[in-house]
Amino acid sequence: MNYLAWRLLSLGAQLTRTMHCVSPQTVRVEDAFQDGDLILDLGGGGEGVIGRLRGRQVVAVDIRKDELDETPAGPIKVVGDARHLPFPDHSFEAVTAFFFLMYVPATDRSTVVREAFRVLMPGGSLRVWDVAIPAPGERAAKTFVVPVCAELPGTTIRTAYGVPWRGRQMSDRSIAELASDAGFAVSVRAARECAFYLVLTKPP
Ligand SMILES: C[S@@+](CC[C@H](N)C(=O)[O-])C[C@H]1O[C@@H](n2cnc3c(N)ncnc32)[C@H](O)[C@@H]1O
Repeated sequence: MNYLAWRLLSLGAQLTRTMHCVSPQTVRVEDAFQDGDLILDLGGGGEGVIGRLRGRQVVAVDIRKDELDETPAGPIKVVGDARHLPFPDHSFEAVTAFFFLMYVPATDRSTVVREAFRVLMPGGSLRVWDVAIPAPGERAAKTFVVPVCAELPGTTIRTAYGVPWRGRQMSDRSIAELASDAGFAVSVRAARECAFYLVLTKPP
């Protein structure tokens, strides 16, 4: 969803109180990759932020072909399910998840993190940028939305990501725990407002 479409949708939804929208989050995406790295970007359709950062070094895997069709040219596009990745063990130097785990029901996240661990080479890292999602409780809003301003070297992308609120509760801590259970070491855990960033390293 582009920024203008989101603003229009947001206005209508907030008037009807169906959407819970947090304040816009500014996320700096550092280029932490090496030139020879093969990078798997989970849920890499839509804006394709990581694909814009590293082009043909990126394999963008997304369950929806229409989302990959929208993604700017650059990455290699693969239709596939992050719960059952269509790649052999130890295939990638890096795996990324840019505002992807919020799209995965909480009950499936452990499977996704374990799959990321499997396809990573020893010593490689899973990098996660995402948002803390509280439990909806008694609130009427059905959709949780986070506007994001992604600052990449040389470009800024303004967009918004929205998911059904129920069953999507998440925090940096809950993802770090899942990752530790899968065998990752938590190398970086940083939170700013409600956005968070994790670097999860597979032991060498
Ligand atoms: C909107 S994108 C997230 C942002 C995207 N990484 C970007 O750079 O803009 C989330 C994507 O996850 C995809 N998705 C949801 N569940 C998935 C799964 N199990 N496996 C792979 N992709 C999935 C959705 O189709 C959607 O395109």
